[in-house]
Amino acid sequence: MLKPVKIFYDSKQYQIMGIANVMAIEKSKGYGTTLMDHIRNYLEKNKLICIGNTHRDNFNFYKKCGFRFISGLVDRFVHLDENGKHESKNDWSDYSMFIYDKDNKIEEVIKGKKDIIIKIPLW
Ligand SMILES: CC(C)(COP(=O)(O)OP(=O)(O)OC[C@H]1O[C@@H](n2cnc3c(N)ncnc32)[C@H](O)[C@@H]1OP(=O)(O)O)[C@@H](O)C(=O)NCCC(=O)NCCS
Repeated sequence: MLKPVKIFYDSKQYQIMGIANVMAIEKSKGYGTTLMDHIRNYLEKNKLICIGNTHRDNFNFYKKCGFRFISGLVDRFVHLDENGKHESKNDWSDYSMFIYDKDNKIEEVIKGKKDIIIKIPLW
């Protein structure tokens, strides 16, 4: 699944595509790679940035597919709705966020230290 998500950082707003639920029913037959090749082409054609969160079991797969892992990023995402801040109760120690940002458009966000605000729970 690829879904448009707005993220807010340091009083700026960025449009990204959230990626989740990547799944191959038959594993290790190249289907996952084929899917991710299409996703990468779509992102490049439309000049989009993509961010996902995944378990350590999948790190190598996404790396092979050209995505970059950013340690510590998942802990900086904060869900904020009209009632205020929602503290994450999840233990993200086995997870990492991965991104595809060909033109380094959100480098400032990635390298920063402040919270990254999202108005939905993590996708
Ligand atoms: C992750 C997943 C989509 C990969 O799809 P796949 O069709 O099995 O992957 P491919 O056959 O295209 O494999 C591509 C390469 O990544 C490697 N790879 C695949 N899954 C891997 C995994 N979970 N961990 C490490 N390497 C993996 C393969 O060994 C292969 O390497 P090679 O090219 O050197 O042989 C699939 O394993 C899956 O559905 N996993 C369960 C659901 C899941 O956790 N999805 C991620 C949600 S964020």
